[in-house]
Amino acid sequence: MHLYIHIPFCESKCHYCSFTSLRLKDFQNAYFKALKEDLILQISNFNINKSSINTVFIGGGTPSMIEAKAYEDIFEFLQPFLAKNAEISIEANPNSADFTWLEEIKNFGVNRISFGAQSFSEKKLQFLGRIHSQKEIFKALKNANKAGFKNVNLDLIYDTKLDDKKMLEFELLNLEKIKPLITHLSAYNLTIEPKTAFAKKEHFKKNAPHLMKFFIEKIKELGFLQYEISNFAKNENYICKHNLAYWQGKNYIGCGLSGVGFYENKRFYTAKNLKSYIENPCFRELEYLSEKDLNLEHLFLGLRSIVGIDEKSLQISQKEKAQILLKDKKLKFENARFYNLNFLLADEIALYLAL
Ligand SMILES: C[S@@+](CC[C@H](N)C(=O)[O-])C[C@H]1O[C@@H](n2cnc3c(N)ncnc32)[C@H](O)[C@@H]1O
Ligand code: SF4
Repeated sequence: MHLYIHIPFCESKCHYCSFTSLRLKDFQNAYFKALKEDLILQISNFNINKSSINTVFIGGGTPSMIEAKAYEDIFEFLQPFLAKNAEISIEANPNSADFTWLEEIKNFGVNRISFGAQSFSEKKLQFLGRIHSQKEIFKALKNANKAGFKNVNLDLIYDTKLDDKKMLEFELLNLEKIKPLITHLSAYNLTIEPKTAFAKKEHFKKNAPHLMKFFIEKIKELGFLQYEISNFAKNENYICKHNLAYWQGKNYIGCGLSGVGFYENKRFYTAKNLKSYIENPCFRELEYLSEKDLNLEHLFLGLRSIVGIDEKSLQISQKEKAQILLKDKKLKFENARFYNLNFLLADEIALYLAL
């Protein structure tokens, strides 16, 4: 089993972000109390056995703006349910994850840290509404290494209005400098999300597929293994197991405000409003997924990543189309699965197979 925990607090709101993040740290104690109640019930409802949770991902929001001590209770409760070599990730912002926080959180068993850097350019950081500097990114990475983290991810965003070739070369130059300090990179193409600051005006996005291709190729040339359209690992050992589980369609529990869980053909949503969540953390809204929904999801997620698509899951017409793509060398076939040879064409191929 896999577990996602959402920490919905942030120091400020970035211009592109639609994740649930509130500037209401006053509710921290009530939130963590509700979160524990939520976890206890979910673990019991899903009949989770001892040592059977393989990955935990604590995301946000900004988990690092909450003092490490606040997580102690949760880790104490989860400990017996964690598998021996469970991957336990936490998201952190460079300005709030100081050495002491990193050391303390590591002592609770967290073994993978994911820093939201977004860019190395001060101008782009400001444009994105980030409140940290380039210097703070370098410092956070050094501190994570000093604290003993052996698995460190960095998030970047590109295809913003400021991302011309020169800007991307600047990002790559810095990436090369910090390469020894990271084991994983997530490079996200900017999405303009509704209700964000970027959605209010035009032209925040570059929309340059040739630069996307250039950036991805150069990241690969730096020695990273691309295993999903936005995700790169130092080598196979550092592929994020939690993300992989999502793309493989595995079951997972989602706890915390705006948490989402998945079990067989159902999706579970927690309350989307802080007050409602604190009052009733065990509430779940259910969404039933049809065979068609599940098939579509399998196609899109499988083709965007090294997961691939299971031949058995394809309908007859889809199998015929997949054979055509195989002949065109757009897909390869191995051990009863089709694999995409170019992640940049993933959505196009998925649509072709689906329609
Ligand atoms: C859950 S978010 C936030 C994590 C953390 N609070 C931070 O800001 O670093 C995880 C990552 O999603 C990416 N992201 C969020 N919104 C995005 C958007 N609209 N377009 C592209 N990437 C986005 C960012 O790279 C971010 O680091
Ligand atoms: S990107 Fe991260 S820090 Fe910025 S608002 Fe979203 S969750 Fe908060």
